[in-house]
Amino acid sequence: LSAAIVLSPDFVIAPVRRRTFGSFVEHLGRCVYTGIHEPGHPTADEDGFRGDVLALTRELGVTLVRYPGGNFVSGYRWEDGVGPDRPVRRDLAWRAIETNEVGIDEFARWAAKAGAEIMYAVNLGTRGVAEALDVHEYLNHPGGTHLSDRRRANGTPEPHGVRLWCLGNELDGPWQTGHKTAHEYGRLAAETARALRQAEPGLELVACGSSNSGMPTFGAWESTVLELTYDQIDHISCHAYYEVLDGDVGSFLASAVDMDHFIDSVVATADAVGARLKSGKRIGLSFDEWNVWYQKRFHADPPTAWRAAAPLLEDTYDVADAVVVGNLLISLLRHSDRVAVACQAQLVNVIAPIRTEPGGPAWRQTTFHPFALTARLARGQVLRTEVASPVYGTARYGEVPVIDAVATHDPATGETVVFAVNRHRTEPVDLTVAVPGAVSVAESWTLHDADTSAANTAAHPDRVVPRHHPAELADGTLHTVLAPVSWTAVRLA
Ligand code: AHR
Repeated sequence: LSAAIVLSPDFVIAPVRRRTFGSFVEHLGRCVYTGIHEPGHPTADEDGFRGDVLALTRELGVTLVRYPGGNFVSGYRWEDGVGPDRPVRRDLAWRAIETNEVGIDEFARWAAKAGAEIMYAVNLGTRGVAEALDVHEYLNHPGGTHLSDRRRANGTPEPHGVRLWCLGNELDGPWQTGHKTAHEYGRLAAETARALRQAEPGLELVACGSSNSGMPTFGAWESTVLELTYDQIDHISCHAYYEVLDGDVGSFLASAVDMDHFIDSVVATADAVGARLKSGKRIGLSFDEWNVWYQKRFHADPPTAWRAAAPLLEDTYDVADAVVVGNLLISLLRHSDRVAVACQAQLVNVIAPIRTEPGGPAWRQTTFHPFALTARLARGQVLRTEVASPVYGTARYGEVPVIDAVATHDPATGETVVFAVNRHRTEPVDLTVAVPGAVSVAESWTLHDADTSAANTAAHPDRVVPRHHPAELADGTLHTVLAPVSWTAVRLA
């Protein structure tokens, strides 16, 4: 098989947004406790944060972290996590015990060490406008008021300065504590947004879109919520998780086709509302939960006992999963004109690129690698990338291209980076890319293994790693061969 890519530094989609490389830390399973936080661990720092996990988070290139949920936030009282008294509570979302040992002040310290911006989610499930204002006062007000002075007394003299706020989480979902109709949620989100902006006009606010594009209310939910919130918010959220269903690996490898369609559908819906409202404003997308997640396994064995820091959603990822993750990042980059924020869900242990053992090692899952390389290499501007590719048939999406790709170009350095996947299960593909101005291959990596089910474990943490990949450049044309089920990145100087 063969494929060809045409691109030009003149055809720019949008700047690469650093917020594309966001992640997510929810009070869920072992993401916080024995994930980022484990006093007594041999690598723990003075705040009880695992140094090995912090180092891997920096290596991953995470720029932003959504916190504290997820489903968890819809029953959360933020006050439980600040100051000296930390009540132990039930978490209905994950049928868990929350010790509240870590709260927003601790998390902010961790985020500063990780070099990541905080995206803070308020509870609009069991709470409302007043509590959103309270947590804003605690986090962002400089001082001289009851709650800002409590923050200062609790050891954080300067405001946390959180700019990006989620107005609740997945409130379209019947599983959500405090689930609402689109109209109920839209009104609450609009009034919460209005109040938060009265407190601080410069905030960036994200309204909840649908929990996934398969929801019966998908589209109608976005339309109603945006009609009610259009002038008050900046972004609408998207969430999507992919897994192999009924053994159909071919469709799974084409998951990014679904993500492309999802993004295009939400953009069209948002723009239709904007047109109806005669507004010149464009709503951004916050793809603040995306990943591969074997949800079927979770639903087959949900938590039954009330436990603290139980291992939940600890998926082990293989090579095929990593190729899909790399492809989803290609889709997100390709939509940089409208996707303003993206968060891989989640960061540690819970459907995560980083895994840990309590008291033991931390390691990189297969999915760590395409994320880390994309975050490091994607610089400058995203280019329109035209791919002429053979196709293959899938049960879920019909005929899809075997090759998917996107390129970035940095006008400051003149470098171009091509990111590509071969979704074919058995055939390698000869790929040529005309890259105007390129003179040499600076680096070239591929993630591939003859055994697509190979994975990393505590015992074999580097079973799957990216390998140097042969790529030749002659007369401004890159030539390389993409192995079946592979993800590749080539930087051209
Ligand atoms: O990331 C796991 C869960 O998936 C989140 O808590 C929820 O928002 C989504 O359904």
